[in-house]
Amino acid sequence: MKICCVGCGYVGLVAATCLADMGNDVMCIDVDKNKINNLKKGIIPIYEPGLKDMLDRNAREKRISFSTNIKDGIQKSDVIFIAVGTPPDANNCADITAIITVAENIGQYMNGYKVIVNKSTAPIGTLEKVGKVIRSFQSKSIKFDLVSNPEFMREGEAIKDFTNPDRIVIGVQNEKAKQIMTSIYRGIARADKPIMFTDIRSAELIKYASNAMLATRISFMNEMAQLCEKVGGDIKAIAKGIGLDARIGPRFLQAGVGYGGSCFPKDVKALAQVMKSKGIDAKILTAVDEVNEQQKRSLLRKVKKLVPDLKGKCIAIWGLAFKPKTDDMREAPSLIVIRQLQEFGAKIRAFDPEAQEAAKKVLKGVVYCKDPYSTLTGCDALVVVTEWNEFRDLDLKKIKKMLKQPNVVDGRNIYNPQEMKRLGFNYLCVGRAH
Ligand SMILES: NC(=O)c1ccc[n+]([C@@H]2O[C@H](COP(=O)([O-])OP(=O)(O)OC[C@H]3O[C@@H](n4cnc5c(N)ncnc54)[C@H](O)[C@@H]3O)[C@@H](O)[C@H]2O)c1
Repeated sequence: MKICCVGCGYVGLVAATCLADMGNDVMCIDVDKNKINNLKKGIIPIYEPGLKDMLDRNAREKRISFSTNIKDGIQKSDVIFIAVGTPPDANNCADITAIITVAENIGQYMNGYKVIVNKSTAPIGTLEKVGKVIRSFQSKSIKFDLVSNPEFMREGEAIKDFTNPDRIVIGVQNEKAKQIMTSIYRGIARADKPIMFTDIRSAELIKYASNAMLATRISFMNEMAQLCEKVGGDIKAIAKGIGLDARIGPRFLQAGVGYGGSCFPKDVKALAQVMKSKGIDAKILTAVDEVNEQQKRSLLRKVKKLVPDLKGKCIAIWGLAFKPKTDDMREAPSLIVIRQLQEFGAKIRAFDPEAQEAAKKVLKGVVYCKDPYSTLTGCDALVVVTEWNEFRDLDLKKIKKMLKQPNVVDGRNIYNPQEMKRLGFNYLCVGRAH
């Protein structure tokens, strides 16, 4: 199948590479000339485990190519995937301007029947708008089909998630588009991991409802963690205790510093906005968002408990990306934690295995260090913000020796409170006995 993938970000690039790996002929289009030039040279704009190898292999075998020429991409393909960004606008609604621009391009340049597949997360009714825009930009009537194919991949696990998804959700209008989508995904759909066909509006809503449900679990556990800190109880034991209930399951029950990233925060807010615009209060989603904002700010209180006067003090931050195994800094809790500490006059030394370059673009006045230990030099406290695996098994005695004061605030509960106490740390974590 000849496929054009518009948008070479986290979703577009991974989807395009995996589709090429499945044997399709994929042309990747982006408006960012620099990104495309780098991709042509094999330089990948994001950190995503396994992506570089897969991309190099498919580029060598000429199944994937990169261009800024959208006309070419549209005209040379049968199926067009849209994977452009849908950031929040000033009112926290999803800004679908980039999707509409692509629709205008498709209408202008299409030269025959196309299937247009939207992978960007966009509110219910977006694909109908896309259809209208395409038709209004056509100089003569050419048939096309619209498909909503929301993406559920997680950064850091994106290739695995794309090639071995829990489900593939596809919203279609007719049998022809259904057949084409079935043939694209034939290689990865399995009996236990099926393609779920539905109507377009339901597919659009499934994506938002999934993210909102996952965010709700996280905020619920963060609120339980706040209660544990008041009345005693260990949030890890509680997560295990409720997660063993088959009706609940163990995933997305970790208390921490709140969710971040390019999806949950904006999608929860955008869904709440859509609900409000339809006269529904969105009480649950409003609370989910509020608890998350509170949680991101809660680390400062803990740091101040250990270092009451932050002016001129040095704080070490481990982990900047919004979660491990990515370099994505969008809505990362580290941004709030660091800016709060700086407002109180603290100096920041920071380390992240992959996100330092991305962090430099959005954080000012931070000293970036080359490894976790050297970050601690001269610091009055260590704050763990992202739970990279490499922070879990470090030499705790060495950490204590390198810090000026043995203060640790563990925003991800990666250490054992009893052991930290035994080693002489002043240790605060999230929802566990202090
Ligand atoms: N990042 C994730 O983990 C994830 C997971 C599932 C769904 N999504 C959704 O997928 C969509 C894309 O997310 P992302 O994280 O890949 O975004 P991104 O910001 O990383 O990438 C978007 C890309 O689209 C390009 N672009 C913008 N306008 C364009 C245009 N008119 N023509 C061609 N290219 C254009 C940008 O230059 C950029 O490279 C969003 O709607 C997001 O909510 C993201």
